[in-house]
Amino acid sequence: MKFTVVAFMLFVSTFAMAQGVKISSPNNQIILEAGLQNGLATYTVAFNGKPIVVPSSLTVGIKGIMAINDKYTITSIDSSATDETWEQVWGENKYVRNNYKQLTLHCQSIAAKPITWNIIFKIYNEGVAFKYQWPAQTNLQHFIISTEVSQINLNHNYLAFWLPGDFDSNEYPITTCKLSEVNPTKVGLKNEIHARTLAGDNIVQTPLMLKGTNGIYVNLHEAALVNYPAMNLKLNPKTYAFTSVLVPDAVGNAAYLTTPCTSPWRTINIANKATNILASRMILNLNDPNKIKDPSFIKPQKFIGLWWEMHVGKSSWDYAGTQDASNIKNNEALQPSGKHGATTANTKKYIDFAAKHGLSGVLVEGWNVGWEDWFGKWKENVFDFITPYPDFDVAALSSYAKSKGVHLIMHHETSGSVTNYERYMDTAYRFMKLYNYPAVKTGYVGKIIPRGEHHDGQWMVNHFVRVAQKTADYKIMLDAHEPVRPTGLHRTYPNWMASEAARANEFNAWSEGNLPSHETILPFTRLMGGPMDYQPGIFKMKLNYADATKKEQMHTTLAKQLALFVTIYSPLQMVSDLPEHYEEKLDAFQFIKDVAVDWDTTVYLNAEPGEFVTIARKAKASPNWFVGAITNESARIAAIPLQYLDANKTYTATVYMDAPNADCYTNMELYQIKKVIVNAKSILNVALAKGGGCAISIVPSAGKVGKAGVIKL
Ligand code: NOJ
Ligand code: CA
Repeated sequence: MKFTVVAFMLFVSTFAMAQGVKISSPNNQIILEAGLQNGLATYTVAFNGKPIVVPSSLTVGIKGIMAINDKYTITSIDSSATDETWEQVWGENKYVRNNYKQLTLHCQSIAAKPITWNIIFKIYNEGVAFKYQWPAQTNLQHFIISTEVSQINLNHNYLAFWLPGDFDSNEYPITTCKLSEVNPTKVGLKNEIHARTLAGDNIVQTPLMLKGTNGIYVNLHEAALVNYPAMNLKLNPKTYAFTSVLVPDAVGNAAYLTTPCTSPWRTINIANKATNILASRMILNLNDPNKIKDPSFIKPQKFIGLWWEMHVGKSSWDYAGTQDASNIKNNEALQPSGKHGATTANTKKYIDFAAKHGLSGVLVEGWNVGWEDWFGKWKENVFDFITPYPDFDVAALSSYAKSKGVHLIMHHETSGSVTNYERYMDTAYRFMKLYNYPAVKTGYVGKIIPRGEHHDGQWMVNHFVRVAQKTADYKIMLDAHEPVRPTGLHRTYPNWMASEAARANEFNAWSEGNLPSHETILPFTRLMGGPMDYQPGIFKMKLNYADATKKEQMHTTLAKQLALFVTIYSPLQMVSDLPEHYEEKLDAFQFIKDVAVDWDTTVYLNAEPGEFVTIARKAKASPNWFVGAITNESARIAAIPLQYLDANKTYTATVYMDAPNADCYTNMELYQIKKVIVNAKSILNVALAKGGGCAISIVPSAGKVGKAGVIKL
């Protein structure tokens, strides 16, 4: 189903732009005007007649070839339209419609040896995207981008949900304030090398969520980040104008390119309802189609991890318990500390639990030699990814897991030493195949080696894509921790099923934790680019059970932890707590066993960033629906309509909700489970506690609906 119309009608622009043209979204609600102003391509965007982006110019500085204030010309303009529908390998919806109009400005520099490039706009009902494209040409072959000056001038003091522009980390709490008050230096940067780069500048990361007092929601991000550094945005807090800032490499250059090539898409989502931002598939659509010919090895699944027990201090990743390998003399065998988590016996316990409860996999961290030396050292050769500690019998565990119908999930912590990982990748993936590991969780804690490169720079962007490609060659599924933020590349490489790239649940174990509003913002920020390994499902909320001195605790209720399985999408979903904590509450654990990880349809019922999110999803090839509703620190009633259910059926809704006196500070574990018969006309009114939530499974059943309409729970 695809049609493309070349050169449909363009209207002559109404404002003062030479060669200006006007083009509308398929539903005519968004109007883009573009043309030449003061010698630079300039565009504006309006939504339902309101100006959203006011005149903003676009240019790129190319070393030795073009300066950012060099004027250029537009030689011609053309346009087309596309409307197609494609099927996802997995996702929040089985089918995705890709419906847009396209406008291309053909540009040329004014120089003795002119170069040419195109600025391509795509106009969707959900927003606008643009990118630069450099065709093959004699005057431009290999070139270096020093700066990209893409302006997005918003002209409204939006409420912003932002992270400081750190080039190496997105693991920050999300700050919420007006654009006029944004001040990244107040938040403080974790990586001192960036303090130098960013001092005094209002640089924030994308995806950046904005909510206006004008009833408009805007989201700024990028799509298809390949062979280019990630983009941050520099804000003028007086005019609300943004300019792109590319993450530099060790010597300050941004990107090394060879024609023909393109930049990633710069995306501007626009909506008058917050739920429409969540429902947008624009970023996914802007990525190339699936490149994996036979994706049958890609299996959405839930897995448990021998993981949280290290985060809460019950056991350790390392075998010798020293955290400092310089204490270990050459060739001296490591002496076990007695605290090592990834032992054969302990792993068997997790395998047994997974098998008993229908979870597909068991992630084991700390299984391989190197953890004595991994943290904060900036050291080149820490791990080889194939040598288990003496107390981890990989062959026996692999067979044991197989005999129980489950598999192990590999962990490759690189400790930032990426050259070392690249050296071992083939060997490490062959090792995985030998021992029947179908998925790997990678990790990039610490500063990058080679020195001077950043997690979000072009060199690392290329590394992350190489890992996705190579794991695909080996038919391995991938979950990347500490990667560059996702930009929809899971369309192209559907084996790259999840990434962390934000402050996940783990922060509750060893920091001041995540605010109750955190999870209500993530769908509008981090998740715009793709699925997140948030690691939901913590049941034991005070975290001092292994170490009595520990003050840390969770900042959600238990019911909210269940709801996160629906509201934070991942097709490779970690079930995070310890088996014994689930065994204590098997009635609540039932939701985790039942909830799907791959969906036919998703309905965004209601949402406001920072306040609440309610999402309903229909499991793939199943009549069952699952709903998640979460709130920030305010208690509230979630009104959950069920009009999407089959009108000819009745269903049993099992509602996992906060008990009357539950809250996210003191009574986090209090929950109740209610069952009601519902149909498509029912509306469930569920009371959510402070920092609470509810999770609902809705399964066809016999029975009569007791009361039509609103059911108060
Ligand atoms: C940070 C990751 O986010 C976490 O999941 C992992 O357990 C540790 N690094 C160790 O690799
Ligand atoms: Ca992390």
